[in-house]
Amino acid sequence: MDLLERITRLKEQKKAIILAHNYQRPEVQDLADFVGDSLELARQAATLKDCRLIVFCGVRFMAETASILSPEKKVLLPVSEAGCPLAEMVTPEQVKAMREKHPGAWVVSYVNTSAEVKALSDVCCTSANAASVVRNVPVSKILFFPDRNLGWYVQQRVPEKEILVWDGFCFVHERFTAAEVKQVREKMPDAEVLAHPECLPEVQKLADGIYSTSGMLKRARQSPAQKIVVATEEGLLHRLKKENPGKEFYSLGTAKICPNMKKTNLEAVRLALEREEPAINLSEELLQSARRALERMLKFL
Ligand code: 13P
Ligand code: SF4
Repeated sequence: MDLLERITRLKEQKKAIILAHNYQRPEVQDLADFVGDSLELARQAATLKDCRLIVFCGVRFMAETASILSPEKKVLLPVSEAGCPLAEMVTPEQVKAMREKHPGAWVVSYVNTSAEVKALSDVCCTSANAASVVRNVPVSKILFFPDRNLGWYVQQRVPEKEILVWDGFCFVHERFTAAEVKQVREKMPDAEVLAHPECLPEVQKLADGIYSTSGMLKRARQSPAQKIVVATEEGLLHRLKKENPGKEFYSLGTAKICPNMKKTNLEAVRLALEREEPAINLSEELLQSARRALERMLKFL
């Protein structure tokens, strides 16, 4: 039996569902039952019915989010070291200190945070809904954690609110430069340039549109452009090309890779299914307190 057949058989035996983020390796994306951005994956996890196990092919904060929203299911993260350095750039103590300094402000946390930080937050957001979540917050002062570039993006779109932005960043997206956008404009003047809101403000300003990863997929389907250049992790190119065979897709400048997103391969998925580990194991108390901010996000939309 080959590896894919073994995974399929194990999946059926164990009533498992495989979720994968848009940055996963192509073969992992092709194997998954559902591939999406952080918001779509959170929604899927919250509504999945006939399964006992979720195998989450992504990074830790995403698997934790699935576990928080689907506490009756066992959630496996095939490679337990697959973390997100951005999520580690703010600690619960730092959030508490900011809250004390700014009483009355709401804490809005990007989902790229630990469960402990979510538990101290009023509401979460993803790159797909950050501006609309902040607009809907019922107070005028916001403490936004932890990504400074997404925070800048929100500040531009919701100028009526005072938004204090934490100084975290994604080291993958910060590597895209304004010079790379200018070069592509010269070399491919007819191409559309799409950027993720984790990119630097100067890159966002020069792009034709700013989108989450699934927002880019939607734009690529609808755009009249034949050539599309994306400033996001290179794993997204797989779906872009697969779903739009008549169009051309490129990474902006050199391809930027998130090493944590590439840690999961088919063998790791097989092992995780066979052993039913590594599993996300958050305490009942933490699950409950982190759920409030995530559920509020899902209701706000
Ligand atoms: P999306 O929610 O846009 O897929 O982004 C997730 C992420 O980790 C970006 O680096
Ligand atoms: Fe985290 Fe950046 Fe990797 Fe996304 S691309 S998982 S934000 S390090």
